[in-house]
Amino acid sequence: MKTYLVTGGAGFIGSNFIHYMIKKYDDIFIVNLDKLTYSGNLNNLKDIEKGSRYAFVKGDITDSELVKSLFEIYPIDYVVNFAAESHVDRSIDNPTEFINTNIVGTFVLLESAKSAWLKGEKWEEGKKFIQISTDEVYGSLGETGYFSETTPLDPRSPYSASKSSADLLVKSYFDTYRMPINITRCSNNYGPYQFPEKLIPLMINNCLTGKCLPVYGDGKNVRDWIYVEDHCRAIDLVVNKGRVGEVYNIGGGNERTNIDIVKTIIATLRMLLEENDVRKAFISEEKIKFVKDRKGHDRRYAIDSTKISNELGWKPVTSFDEGMKKTVKWYLDNSKWLEEITSGSYKDYYVKMYADREKEEAV
Ligand code: NAD
Ligand code: TYD
Repeated sequence: MKTYLVTGGAGFIGSNFIHYMIKKYDDIFIVNLDKLTYSGNLNNLKDIEKGSRYAFVKGDITDSELVKSLFEIYPIDYVVNFAAESHVDRSIDNPTEFINTNIVGTFVLLESAKSAWLKGEKWEEGKKFIQISTDEVYGSLGETGYFSETTPLDPRSPYSASKSSADLLVKSYFDTYRMPINITRCSNNYGPYQFPEKLIPLMINNCLTGKCLPVYGDGKNVRDWIYVEDHCRAIDLVVNKGRVGEVYNIGGGNERTNIDIVKTIIATLRMLLEENDVRKAFISEEKIKFVKDRKGHDRRYAIDSTKISNELGWKPVTSFDEGMKKTVKWYLDNSKWLEEITSGSYKDYYVKMYADREKEEAV
């Protein structure tokens, strides 16, 4: 029986990972430590919460007393650190929490794991710390080329700078103390349970509620989209088979411009909605509005996944068409989840982030 400390497990990728792992293995125990910030939602784990192989702890990864106590209570074998402030636009608006959670929080987890797992000069057998990072640490690409694991770090937003800082801390615990670690750097995820501040769920929600579809700049920025379950499968492989001390890039092999993504969402919604659904009348490309660009907007991300493919036999299996259909259908089938999340403070967030931007159309 392996015990996982999953942090940020009530968020988008963390909750998908917990679902994936509980379904795949019947001999693991997962402790989910999550602060339940605006993007953490226990409704993401409703079907799992009563299971005997899962425990939820509400708390902050920067709280060293709490984190240390978890290592005393549970025989933790793996830390999988998803907990983060994760949205670039919020980091531009106010980076403070990004520094606290993403950097200090990772440091606290590393220190607690080291105290629990390092016995004299020797690390206990079978332990590992897995840092869930992002391709954004590599910066921005031009029209050609790919990020590989040896691409120099060149973060350009407070979010990606905080994630890079955390990666360097994790690397330093390997280099200095020989702590067993892996770092994964994945491209843009999409799928169920993603908070509607990110491009895909935001556009789905705006389509369904008749709002305009705010595309930053010229809409030609490129992201490499991966269906979240493919990412979870890769993390599982890295946890269980990844070579200690290694970084693994994980990419969807699926580069798309933002404008292409928005048009695909419109087409997919129109295809999936019933013929007589009144919302069909206002879901159209006429709703697309090119708005003021994001500051320092990275132009293109593209991942070279050769290493994880050669070493661990991983490749993404969900095609973009299939993934988009599944995702859009999930949001249609879970309208209550979406309504709950977009009531209350989300409305203030939307006004704060988009009111001025929409006034200043892109030229
Ligand atoms: P998310 O915002 O949906 O979830 C983050 C979770 O962390 C939430 O449940 C939140 O409550 C929790 N959290 C935040 N601060 C915390 C703290 N101080 N203590 C404990 N819990 C805290 O994010 P996500 O999209 O699921 O991303 C998860 C991880 O994957 C992040 O580390 C992110 O950098 C990385 N990542 C995301 C993507 C993507 O496309 N979303 C791509 C690559 C890597
Ligand atoms: P996002 O989902 O925020 O992910 P990231 O910035 O981490 O890649 O944004 C994806 C792309 O979509 C990015 O180029 C910014 C763009 N975007 C818009 O054009 N409009 C929006 O409302 C949002 C949220 C993003």
